[in-house]
Amino acid sequence: MTELTSTTSSRRRILAPPASESTARHEIAVQINGEAIEAEVESRLLLTDFLRERLGLTGTHVGCEQGSCGACTVLLDDVPIRSCLLLAPQIDGRSIRTVEGLAERDGTPNKMQQAFCDHHGLQCGFCTPGLLITLTSLAEREVPVTLDELDHHLDSSICRCTGYMNIRNAARYALGLMPPRVEDRSGERDGP
Ligand code: FES
Ligand code: FES
Repeated sequence: MTELTSTTSSRRRILAPPASESTARHEIAVQINGEAIEAEVESRLLLTDFLRERLGLTGTHVGCEQGSCGACTVLLDDVPIRSCLLLAPQIDGRSIRTVEGLAERDGTPNKMQQAFCDHHGLQCGFCTPGLLITLTSLAEREVPVTLDELDHHLDSSICRCTGYMNIRNAARYALGLMPPRVEDRSGERDGP
């Protein structure tokens, strides 16, 4: 990671590395996982590179770099977006949450993260940050989620390992969409 950092009051300041070519630079002020950050960024710096290389937030993965795979998904003002399709100067004044910012302040995994652990929702883990971001945003919605909506959101990320069943089961559990267990339905049967 190439990071030039200074801290003034409660804001962290990230400086751009020395220019290797003539390129315009911009001053941005952003909230990243709740931390106020000021940074100097080049015009063509991708948000993925800003997060990973300048801030060391390597939980945001990079796959296709063309908006297809979902590995680079982060929350921009609580809305999932592809960070490989955005330039760092475009997030000035905005708030970003990455997979590093999903757990509670004391490090306790959020409900979706815990469900992925409990239901074996990952194998190699490459797609996991993007899926956790997308599914956490769904879980944080105040209206109930349907199975169709869940499947639509799962479509946004490519997983090459799992066949999606464990991921889907984990998300269903976290979203309260699991069917009742057979033993819990015994009272619904007719007759003796
Ligand atoms: S790396 Fe951004 S969508 Fe694939
Ligand atoms: S767990 Fe390997 S790509 Fe999804």
